[in-house]
Amino acid sequence: MYSYRGTTTLVTGASRGLGAAYATELARRGSDLVLVARSAPALDELATRIRAGHDVAVTTHAADLTDRDQVAALLRDLDSVPVDLLVNNAGMGPAGPFLDRPFAPAQTAVDLNVWALMALTHGLGTPMTARGHGGIINVASTAAFQPMPFQAGYAATKAFVLSFTEAVAEELRGTGVRVMAAHPGGTDTAFFEGTSHTVNPRFLDSPEDVARRTLDDFARGRSSSYPGRRLNQVASWLPRFLPRTATTRITGKLNRTLGLDAVRAVPAA
Ligand SMILES: NC(=O)c1ccc[n+]([C@@H]2O[C@H](COP(=O)([O-])OP(=O)(O)OC[C@H]3O[C@@H](n4cnc5c(N)ncnc54)[C@H](OP(=O)(O)O)[C@@H]3O)[C@@H](O)[C@H]2O)c1
Repeated sequence: MYSYRGTTTLVTGASRGLGAAYATELARRGSDLVLVARSAPALDELATRIRAGHDVAVTTHAADLTDRDQVAALLRDLDSVPVDLLVNNAGMGPAGPFLDRPFAPAQTAVDLNVWALMALTHGLGTPMTARGHGGIINVASTAAFQPMPFQAGYAATKAFVLSFTEAVAEELRGTGVRVMAAHPGGTDTAFFEGTSHTVNPRFLDSPEDVARRTLDDFARGRSSSYPGRRLNQVASWLPRFLPRTATTRITGKLNRTLGLDAVRAVPAA
């Protein structure tokens, strides 16, 4: 059983949503924290809240993880900090018809969900293998298991995360460094904020539950985690049995029903 107590964990995307829940749950389990996201005030506020409730050290690094220079600077700053566990959580997911929406968010999703996750895995995983211990949790999604019309780019980035994580996990088997992919389903966060899309909260898991189950699964030595409702894992098996075109039609139909074919950006309030 992996024990979080006395370790240091870096959580990306810690300013809100699942990342803030991971940070809070890790603190409850006794891990010191390095919190990373762009919004310095939100990180500082969370750090203050965590320090007040838990006897752990918390540092914050405001960084845009899609910016190569800022990621390099973050890794330089962490040179002398032995990070035991990396939680690659930061991610974003543009929705809507690919060709009707601007290209920039799709590009940003690739930079954040794929490039930054790889860069941090490499930058922090290399010293872990040198020390002979450590762990990496890559937050993918149930979207990783099949193409998803109207979330085409997002699902493709998560399929990348799944494939990359499983391959690196096998490369590292027996080294003392473990890598796990986590596949939340719909979770009650600000994920769709800034778009016209809303989800009935009845179909969403709480970020606190998802964080707790992910960390339990990692502690138990699992190589993958389905931290949401049971149906999520069952649904992830379907694409193994259906032709890919059938799977894609089904997810396309589902996303049309959810109104993702009509998603548009809404200006910030
Ligand atoms: N919510 C869901 O239904 C769901 C389902 C499956 C998987 N997931 C995955 O779970 C992870 C967390 O999502 P969430 O739902 O918690 O989303 P969220 O509420 O939108 O939070 C995203 C986090 O990522 C940070 N972030 C965004 N762009 C960044 C950038 N360029 N550089 C650094 N940090 C950045 C945000 O902070 P700043 O804005 O301060 O930078 C924020 O802390 C993502 O990987 C997502 O794909 C979510």
